[in-house]
Amino acid sequence: MKKIKLKINGRTKQFVVGPDRVLLDLLRDDLHLTGAKQSCDRKGQCGACTVIVNNKATRSCLTKVADLEGAEVITVEGLGTPDNPHLIQEAYVLSGAVQCGYCTPGMIMATKALLDQNPDPDTEEIKKALARNLCRCTGYKKIIDAVKLAGRFLRGETSPDQIRPDPAKGVMHVSLPRPSAMIKACGTAEFAADIKIQGALEIAVVRSTEHHANIKSIDTSEAEKIPGVIGTMTAKDIKGTNRLKFIFNDQPLLCDTKVRCLGDPIAIVVAETLEQAKAGAAAVKVDYEPLPVMMTPAEAMADGAVRVHDEFPNLCYQQPQVNGDAKKAFAESAALVEAEFSTQLNHQAPLEPEACVAYLEGEGEDAVLVVIGRSIMIHTHMATLQEALGWENMRYEEPFSGGQFGIKAAITSEGIAGAAALHFKRPVRYIPSIHESMLLTSKRHPFTMKVKLGADKDGKLTAYGNDFIVENGAYMILGIVVILRALEMHSGPYYIPSIDSLARLVYTNNAAGGAARGAGPPQVTFALESAVDMLADKLGIDPLEFRLKNSLMPGQSVSTGAVIEQWPFPEICELIRPHYERAKKEAAAFKDGPIKRGVGIAAHSFGIAEPGDKAQVAVELDLDDGVTVYAAAADPGEGNDSMLTQITAHLLDLPVEKVRLVTRNTDQTTETGPAAGSRITYMVGGALQNALEQMKAAMKEAGDSTYEGMKKAGKPTRYMGTKNVPEGGLDPKTGQGPTFDSQVHNIQMAEVEVNTETGEVRVIKMTTAVDPGPVIHPQNLEGQLEGGMDQGVGYALREEYIHGKTKDWVTFKFPTMKTAFDIEVLTPRETPRARGTLGGTGIGEMTMVSTAPAVINAIKNACGARIFNLPATPEKVLAALAAGK
Ligand code: FES
Ligand code: FES
Repeated sequence: MKKIKLKINGRTKQFVVGPDRVLLDLLRDDLHLTGAKQSCDRKGQCGACTVIVNNKATRSCLTKVADLEGAEVITVEGLGTPDNPHLIQEAYVLSGAVQCGYCTPGMIMATKALLDQNPDPDTEEIKKALARNLCRCTGYKKIIDAVKLAGRFLRGETSPDQIRPDPAKGVMHVSLPRPSAMIKACGTAEFAADIKIQGALEIAVVRSTEHHANIKSIDTSEAEKIPGVIGTMTAKDIKGTNRLKFIFNDQPLLCDTKVRCLGDPIAIVVAETLEQAKAGAAAVKVDYEPLPVMMTPAEAMADGAVRVHDEFPNLCYQQPQVNGDAKKAFAESAALVEAEFSTQLNHQAPLEPEACVAYLEGEGEDAVLVVIGRSIMIHTHMATLQEALGWENMRYEEPFSGGQFGIKAAITSEGIAGAAALHFKRPVRYIPSIHESMLLTSKRHPFTMKVKLGADKDGKLTAYGNDFIVENGAYMILGIVVILRALEMHSGPYYIPSIDSLARLVYTNNAAGGAARGAGPPQVTFALESAVDMLADKLGIDPLEFRLKNSLMPGQSVSTGAVIEQWPFPEICELIRPHYERAKKEAAAFKDGPIKRGVGIAAHSFGIAEPGDKAQVAVELDLDDGVTVYAAAADPGEGNDSMLTQITAHLLDLPVEKVRLVTRNTDQTTETGPAAGSRITYMVGGALQNALEQMKAAMKEAGDSTYEGMKKAGKPTRYMGTKNVPEGGLDPKTGQGPTFDSQVHNIQMAEVEVNTETGEVRVIKMTTAVDPGPVIHPQNLEGQLEGGMDQGVGYALREEYIHGKTKDWVTFKFPTMKTAFDIEVLTPRETPRARGTLGGTGIGEMTMVSTAPAVINAIKNACGARIFNLPATPEKVLAALAAGK
């Protein structure tokens, strides 16, 4: 042990530490300074733990305290507080650089170190200085803007008051600071791992080392002898169904008789410290009887293949879609394209590990099991856990969570933590590493798609078929939802008179697929938009003209046969035209030399609010005449809190400070559906609008909008609003039926450079034209579109999750400042939607869908290489060039 004196946030302190104690643990565990986060398992890859040591940005996870004698340490908490923030914290908030906020403290400290050295950095200098700080939400554009704005603040060129929105401008179409942005920027927002519970035990989980095997026995006796281990539990200790039921009842919380996937949970070990729990887990012996492993749909569908689940065939679901006479239409088409496309298994990659804490409130049978987890649908997940654990008395709370992108639609760590808290009757923390988080989460499904697309001699699309197989992985989770969404949106923004498609879903022993930003449409849009370009090329028609020519028009139907009333797609095609012409001209200058530049476009019309969708929101007038909104609408970074606050302030003409949100607790809210499918503004915002309109009508009748006045007039002070989409589904034989209640449309352009010697592709710029309906918060809208493009480029060029092999952010190829590109968002059209929330709809997934095909079409335009299998790695680009494709 060694005695060390160091100054932390201006106060000198003395510590006695062992040689391995790292600064991150000292800050978080001993000093409860939890602003510094951990994402990358202390590999120095994420920068979330960045603090300043002796004026230098330093990754605290790698810094030994024993080496810090006399050092001066500044953490994000030492920079400023929500009441008295530092100018850099103000700049991050005002630039819209804070979404989930998990990366933000580290980013801010790296920014401080940069600006201390270089008060006026240019974009390249910012990218270099922040190259090792990762962000999954923003696409980095607004972070770069924030660093520049902070520089201007610090140089005295402007001030936060000059940048802040003018209150006289109202609250609609105004980028007011997000309600939680400042506490995230100051490091005081609590994420699950930041929550301190007295006496909480640490959890480690014994996970399957096999892809597919029967469990013959589990021996926990050695684990229980390890000092500090409090106990172990297996499936037999769970009183409920032990099933995490969503669509099928196929996923055990703890595996009992069989494992179906590497990393399946088998036993829980709880101990005083995480090290002891891990040692206990390592000592548990599991005896397996190996079964045949099927890692592809082809293997799982082969004759004689064993079933992944005894109760379901491996080909567990299929849905055709037939509209018109596609066979005849193909035969009569003047031009046809036939091709096979495939997409990879991918990780949604939120920066925060899958942390959860749980405890019992009260004693005995009346005790309430409190789970504080990362759900985006707290009521649904609580109901699932009640059944799985066999414990009715429960409350689900949601802390701030570090990104989601679909991953939080499935239960992960909550099941483990809830089971352990209940069994051991002690508070528990389950903070898995990023590697373990990758093993235990659902993924973006891989698709294999056989596509046929036809057009007549005038370039009008005649027929489309997509025979696609979706690899479900080991568990259903949301598989059926994903293939139905893919079918419902697979004709994109186009009118295609005849459709002949088939979607099939197949169990394998790979990681289970689940929701992932876009969930189905990104895969089928890659295929359709590639085929559209190929067909335009065959017909000698410019890709933009071809898309415009084939736009669906109001009164025509999408592939489900549902007739559409509004379709502002042609207008946005016109909007992108000058940008497209400019980009083509610039690309033409790169004819000679190994670096070729190309321009690609792709489009999509994304459905919002499926048939049967429902939402409800309560509003209550407070004693001070403010309003509290009660809605179980998670905001893991999209900006839902801004939406709820600003709509309320707007409709009741209140200052935003008088709008309070209660959104993170099952006791105080009712079910309002998942924060997924870009549905929250449209559905939950719509239910809020309905509740507020009821309240306003009552205020009008009372002739008074105060709490006192309403009470005197005998009016209720609480109103429940709803929004419901009529029920309906696809016909199982034809795939025909109603479609989404609203759509958001975009057309997207990628400008890329391809190095034809190395196969490397660099995205120079992405431009998107979107019609989102009336905009509530322009900065949040841009942030979603920019972040979606960054994820889309990763999907197109680099990212691929290989179960068991992808272990960290380097092997995942996480996007960085270095891979960030220029982004332009065009939204001058805001067509009010017929049933939109104040006319508005949702945009969270829009650009994720059409980015990959735009990039792939740009690669083809640059060098002639067409990529059929994502991601377009340098090897695939070189192979396509060599094959002359
Ligand atoms: S936790 Fe320190 S760099 Fe990732
Ligand atoms: S805001 Fe950067 S990771 Fe979410």
